[in-house]
Amino acid sequence: ARAGGQPLPLSGRRAIVTSGPTHEPIDPVRYIANRSSGKQGHAIAAALAKLGAEVTLVSGPVEIADPSGVRVVHVERAEEMLDAVVAALPADIAVMVAAVADWRVAASAGEKIKKKPGEAPPPLQLAENPDILKTIGHHAARPRLVVGFAAETQNLEANARDKLKRKGADLIVANDVSPATGIMGGDRNNVKIVSSDGIDAWPELSKQEVAERLANLIATRLTELR
Ligand code: CTP
Ligand code: CA
Repeated sequence: ARAGGQPLPLSGRRAIVTSGPTHEPIDPVRYIANRSSGKQGHAIAAALAKLGAEVTLVSGPVEIADPSGVRVVHVERAEEMLDAVVAALPADIAVMVAAVADWRVAASAGEKIKKKPGEAPPPLQLAENPDILKTIGHHAARPRLVVGFAAETQNLEANARDKLKRKGADLIVANDVSPATGIMGGDRNNVKIVSSDGIDAWPELSKQEVAERLANLIATRLTELR
């Protein structure tokens, strides 16, 4: 509660947010990664905390600072991210923003892979990573409000609707990550909110504004669920 004032809209609520990329090791010195900066996920964690929520942010490797007022758990791999998210349950809210690597190297090497004269490049056998959002969306201790993102470069709305159903989410924040948009790594975002109610297209906003607007929407939705 705010000193002397009204309680904040999310006070007494627990939230789990994932953010950033994951790094999937090839050997001790190399990894597979993606272009996620963590800016959107970190901003959402901060915005939920500002509304009074008790937030656990599970972050992959990022260059940006930990947001204040938030408990931060740092991880590298998708499997570690899943373990940290499950360990943070129970919660009222889950917002899965991380750009989790879809695949890891099936058997990463314990020693640095060396070039051998005359030999072909090493084949990289991949294995599918656990789907953290889907696991949480169908978990016995499922948070009451589960929010996912859908990073798409094509068929945005159809793919987002499909992810909503498949992953057991209440809301999907769909964003176009085509290279031409410059969204990945940038400071702005242009999203559509997909739910069973339909699709709401938000204007292009800063990632901070998207975070604040989403935190407010989450607070409203939770009140409606009560
Ligand atoms: N996600 C996750 N764990 C994964 C993959 C994705 O938690 N292993 C989450 C993301 O954090 C996001 C949502 O699922 O909230 C959608 O991620 P996205 O990459 O768009 O979807 P995928 O299901 O991985 O499908 P694809 O990449 O093939 O479009
Ligand atoms: Ca993916």
